[in-house]
Order: sequence, then structure tokens, then C-alpha cells
Amino acid sequence: MRILVTGGAGYIGSHTCILLLEAGYDIVVFDNFCNASKESISRVEKIMGKTIPLMEGDIRNKEDLNRVFERYTIDAVIHFAGLKAVGESVEKPLEYYDNNIYGTLVLCQVMAAHGCKSIVFSSSATVYGDPHTTPIREDFPLSATNPYGRSKLFIEEMLRDLYVSDKTWKIVLLRYFNPIGAHESGTIGEDPNGIPNNLLPFIAQTAIGTRACLSVFGDDYNTVDGTGVRDYIHVMDLADGHVKALDKMNTFSEVMTINLGTGKGYSVLEVLKAFEAASGKKVPYTIAPRRAGDIAECFADPAYAKAVLGWEAQRGIDEMCKDSWRWQSNNPNGYKESNS
Ligand code: NAD
Ligand code: UD1
Repeated sequence: MRILVTGGAGYIGSHTCILLLEAGYDIVVFDNFCNASKESISRVEKIMGKTIPLMEGDIRNKEDLNRVFERYTIDAVIHFAGLKAVGESVEKPLEYYDNNIYGTLVLCQVMAAHGCKSIVFSSSATVYGDPHTTPIREDFPLSATNPYGRSKLFIEEMLRDLYVSDKTWKIVLLRYFNPIGAHESGTIGEDPNGIPNNLLPFIAQTAIGTRACLSVFGDDYNTVDGTGVRDYIHVMDLADGHVKALDKMNTFSEVMTINLGTGKGYSVLEVLKAFEAASGKKVPYTIAPRRAGDIAECFADPAYAKAVLGWEAQRGIDEMCKDSWRWQSNNPNGYKESNS
């Protein structure tokens, strides 16, 4: 069985490629490298001792996608390709709607034209907006406060409409909580462009000395210590959720919407402490004002994933921090050879 992995050179995609290969799936990676490097795939090849078919192209370009479907028989698609920076999406909404929504639309058209109707889509916990309570279940009300989140909501709706029109589609919407960590080899990991927006890469770059000091965005939330609480999930556990979704998708007779989280929330200061313990480094921090658009607390109810996929996260916060640190300390400049 061959799986097309759009965005497969990116952070979550590259880790998922490893588990797909380990599970015996053939894959083909499709990426335009707007936020990734070919080096990630070279490193996955080294880890696995296998050559990975890689096709460069854009999901918005039918010809690019047709080339893939003409060359390979694709049984299912895992669709990671997309833009994901919340702040940038506010500044460039049209780019986000074009890349994420239009790109997914073109992908589905090309899939249908080639008789491939199985897709696992990367959604996000951001579709829950500011939840009225935690833990968050899949049937909670949905909302979005920025174009990135709205693009995920629209795509979910588009895929549901597609299923209503043609029940031979197999569709799984995976709502990720906060993926962190890296493959245990320390050779692949998250490699953000410029100043990281997300907590873990910022902490890791501060620990290595690339950044001077972490700003903790707000200490006056109604949480355990006043700082924001999130459900951090090891990227390898997240990757495993995709393999389990693929394994099971033929047994589903509806669009499946599934949270991938651990069910446990950690505050910013708790994560900081765990990272310091894992790395043996002191991470300087200062308390800064709340970040616009942030919520106090967000963590999953992962019971449905366990019930339908037989999946649950295996790795705890210490392992997540240890693996993030191994990647960061082995690769202080990510996939780039130098800072220049
Ligand atoms: P990433 O940026 O590392 O990976 C996305 C990949 O898609 C990159 O390799 C990029 O080059 C590629 N890509 C983007 N637009 C493309 C296009 N038009 N055509 C072809 N390739 C394109 O991001 P990630 O963290 O691995 O996230 C993967 C998916 O998961 C995204 O859809 C993201 O929105 C979603 N997600 C991520 C998180 C997170 O915290 N990382 C949380 C929830 C959901
Ligand atoms: C952010 C996005 C969300 C996206 C998710 C995963 C925003 C508003 N939300 O969520 O849509 O799905 O990433 O990509 O951007 N923090 C600091 N200092 C920092 C960075 C973060 O204190 O330098 C705090 C935040 O306030 C938050 C926690 O750390 O409490 C986690 O932040 P982050 O990693 O950015 O993830 P989310 O805010 O959950």
C-alpha cells in the first residue's frame, strides 16, 4: 500500500514517514519546501536505510499532483502540507486561504480524478477556540479567532461536505494538541524559520544560547501557577496516531474526527522546569504581558482516540524535553549548516 505524504519533509511529516516505513507502508513525499529542507528526508533515509521517493511540487498545482498520481498508485493521502503560523496568517490571510483551503481543494480534486478517496487531514486543537471547559472532547463547539484556525475549520467542513456527496470517501480529521519533541536519534526535529513562535523551540534555542531570554506570556491566568496550560504531545506519539488512523480507516463508515493529545496539561513554568532538568541548562526567563489570542488552558480528552484507534500517547513530558534537547544540541542551527 502506498501513501502520499503531502508536507512530508516538514516537522510532523518527517517523523510520520519513519513510522509509516516501519509499519510496512510504501510512501512518496510531496513538498514544495516553503517551510522545510530536503535534508530532513535525507536524514529519514539514513535512519531507515531506505531511499524515499520525493517529488517537489505545490498542492495548488494540478500538474504537479497529477505527476505523482501518474507515476505511483496511491492508496491514501496523509495531508500535512499547509502554512501554520498564526501571527503570519493575520497579516497574510489570503496566502493562508490560498495555500491551505485552495490547496486542499485541488488535492481532493486530483485524488478523486485518480480514484484515490482516502485522506487523513492535519487539523488542530485551535478549532475549539476558547473552550468553556477542559478536557476538550471532539463534540465541543468550534470557533476560530484567526485565519489559520479558520482555514482548518473550513477544510474540515469541506471534507465533511465531500463525504456527504460521495460516501466512498474515507476521511479522518486529526486534531493535534501541541506537538513537541523529536525522533530519539536526535537527527530530525523541528526547525522553525527565524524567531520561534512556539514555546518549546524558543526554550530550546534559549538553552543553547541562540536566544537570550524566554518571555513567559502572562502569569495571571486562572491556572495552577498563572501561566498558560497546554497538552504537549511527543511528535512520535502523534506520528503513531496517523499510522493507527490509516490502519483503521477502512473500517470507518463516517468522517472520523479525533483528538490527538495526552489528556494532561502542563503550565509554561512546568515545561520550563522539565526542560531544565532534561538539558541540565538554566533557561533565563522573564514574565511578559499576555500574548493576544492566547487562552488560559487547553488539553484533550483523548478517550475517543483510544476507543476507535486503540491509540494513546506513550511518552511523558520528560522524554519530550529530553528528545527536543538532543535534537537542538546536536543541531544548533537546525538543518542549516550555519547561522548565516
Ligand atoms: P511544517 O511547516 O513543518 O510542515 C508543513 C510542510 O508542508 C512543510 O514541509 C512545507 O514545506 C509544506 N508545504 C506547505 N505548503 C505547501 C504547498 N502548498 N505545497 C506543498 N507543500 C507545502 O509544519 P508541521 O508542524 O509539520 O505541521 C504539519 C501540519 O499539521 C500542518 O497542516 C499544520 O497546520 C498542522 N498542525 C501543526 C501543529 C504544530 O504545532 N506543529 C499543530 C496543529 C496542526
Ligand atoms: C499556538 C497557536 C495555535 C497552534 C499551536 C500549535 C497562537 C495564538 N496559537 O498555540 O493556533 O495550533 O500553536 O502550532 O499562536 N508561550 C510563552 N512564551 C513563548 C511562546 C509561548 O510563554 O515564547 C506560552 C503561550 O502563551 C502558551 C504556551 O506557551 O501558553 C504554548 O504556546 P505555543 O507553543 O505558541 O502554542 P499555543 O499557544 O498552544
